[in-house]
Amino acid sequence: MDNLHRLLKRQMNKYLEDVVLTDELHAFIFAVNQAYIDHDKDRLLLERSIEISAREYHEKMDKIRILQGQLVQQEKLAGIGQLSAGIAHEINNPLGYAQSNLATLKKYLDKIKGFLQTVAEAEKDLQAIATEPEQKILQRIEHARQKNKIDLIMTDLDDLMAESASGLVRIERIVKSLLGFARHRVNTFEDYDLNQGILDTLAIVNNKIKYLAAVDQDLGNIPCIQAMGGLINQVLLNLIMNAIQAIQDKSVKGILAIKTFEKDGSVYCLITDNGIGIPKTNLEHIFTPFFTTKPVGMGTGLGLSIAYDIIVNKHAGEITLDSAEGVGTTFILRLPVQQEKNVVGLQ
Ligand SMILES: Nc1ncnc2c1ncn2[C@@H]1O[C@H](COP(=O)(O)OP(=O)(O)O)[C@@H](O)[C@H]1O
Ligand SMILES: [Mg+2]
Repeated sequence: MDNLHRLLKRQMNKYLEDVVLTDELHAFIFAVNQAYIDHDKDRLLLERSIEISAREYHEKMDKIRILQGQLVQQEKLAGIGQLSAGIAHEINNPLGYAQSNLATLKKYLDKIKGFLQTVAEAEKDLQAIATEPEQKILQRIEHARQKNKIDLIMTDLDDLMAESASGLVRIERIVKSLLGFARHRVNTFEDYDLNQGILDTLAIVNNKIKYLAAVDQDLGNIPCIQAMGGLINQVLLNLIMNAIQAIQDKSVKGILAIKTFEKDGSVYCLITDNGIGIPKTNLEHIFTPFFTTKPVGMGTGLGLSIAYDIIVNKHAGEITLDSAEGVGTTFILRLPVQQEKNVVGLQ
């Protein structure tokens, strides 16, 4: 008997070595052999299907992990947006009356200045005709004026008022940017001004950028686009933060250049830094979820994968880059001005 299953062969050698095989026994052994072979086949099929299920399970788990991470990241960003909008609202009110009171104060001061001018002229006129006791009174007034440095105060007041007013205007701009950054929709298409989005985002990160890089803005004349503005702001924030970190890692006086323009029905946004750049071997990984070169706790590796999802999947746009290690990186966003009706989320 050839081609016997190896287990059956072993058992035959052990138990049936000297047995003469009758036709019945022969048929029986043949049947058992077939059962062994069928069993092997079934086991193989089972193993393969378990393997496939395990692989599918791991793939699904990976997807869930990525989605979870992205959700956490987006929640965080949305949270920051809401928090800053809340703070901005709180500041807005007192800012309003500080500004209006300052304007009133300026009017009052102008009146007081005019009045003091009149008093000074009257004193001068009086001096010419005053009796001795009256002269003494005038001297008292002059003495008080000098002691309290009234003339100096009067000249200083204009600067103080101007500085305070410009300080309040700056606060107003920051508050408006915070409100602007958080105002946009994250799930509905709206008319979105990309240039304003860039300015709002820069205002949010200004205190981080200030000491690390000079910002070179070249914002072109571009139309409003149809976009989920809150999401585009998140992309801008991620790209600008990455650029700043790349500059920080290189310890140079950084330059962050942001340029926008319109071409063939799309708006483009170029974000360039002179930071550490990206090694060629990393280029194919940077949009992969969880890919990060930053120390644990510093990077999540989700910024660019979220940016890709928002620009490419949600807005039918493009995100590409150009980078040279040690020289710097440019990220290029292309966003269509109009959205096709079949884009996910268009309402
Ligand atoms: N402007 C940049 N300059 C240099 N490297 C960058 C830049 N932007 C992204 N990278 C690289 O891509 C990786 C992934 O970026 P990202 O998805 O935002 O995650 P994270 O910033 O949390 O690391 C970064 O860890 C970094 O190595
Ligand atoms: Mg990042």
